[in-house]
Amino acid sequence: VIFESSDEASLQVAEEIANLIRDKQSKGETCVLGLATGSSPIRVYEELVRMHREEGLSFKNVITFNLDEYLPMEKDNRQSYHHFMHEHLFNHVDIDPENINIPDGMVPPEKTKEYCLSYEKKIKDAGGIDFQLLGIGRTGHIGFNEPGSHYNSGTRVITLDHITRVDAGPAFLGIDNVPRKAITMGIATVRSARRIVLLAWGQNKADIIKKTIEGEISSEVPATYLQEHDNCTFVLDEAAGSEL
Ligand code: GLP
Repeated sequence: VIFESSDEASLQVAEEIANLIRDKQSKGETCVLGLATGSSPIRVYEELVRMHREEGLSFKNVITFNLDEYLPMEKDNRQSYHHFMHEHLFNHVDIDPENINIPDGMVPPEKTKEYCLSYEKKIKDAGGIDFQLLGIGRTGHIGFNEPGSHYNSGTRVITLDHITRVDAGPAFLGIDNVPRKAITMGIATVRSARRIVLLAWGQNKADIIKKTIEGEISSEVPATYLQEHDNCTFVLDEAAGSEL
């Protein structure tokens, strides 16, 4: 779906999430959200916060799982995804802190395997992801599933692509400060979500969006795996959709 502006698109996506939360609430069920970081979802989170403040949208029945975190990364570091999520969403809504799950960027190397398996298990035990929000990197990564990621991959440690580190450079005041690794949910983890919405804004994403939507399905552009999902929508602004 191509919207005239990212603003208009974000409001629509926030509305879908809010409706899902309310629908689950009315049935006495929990709502499991898979959440993304980056600049793309910021406006969606802003709108959800507004709905909480002005319309009484409650997050009491919401359980969240974030896609990824840099490794190593302290929680209270300003560049952490932990910090990002609290700043843009969690600090401003009534979610139970125990229902917030973000990969731990300080897991010691010898424990990462066990930790990643336990993250997967937590998602399964929560009933699976009802709604997964995604952005996309210029390498075609979703979460931090860089080119080469397997269709059946689960949550794991990944080495970041050079382009991804270049793009993250400004936030870290230089590429040398960008961590080389990350923990990310896998392609299979993302695919198992019952609903997926990928956001992309701006001319900078036009090329990778064309490859993602019209290109051959391949591990070289991991986001192409989404073509096979039966309930996935690519939500774009005109610039991001301009090469289609
Ligand atoms: C990072 C995140 C991704 C995100 C991507 C794009 O690499 N790990 O989940 O999709 O950035 O970020 P932006 O939305 O700022 O373009």
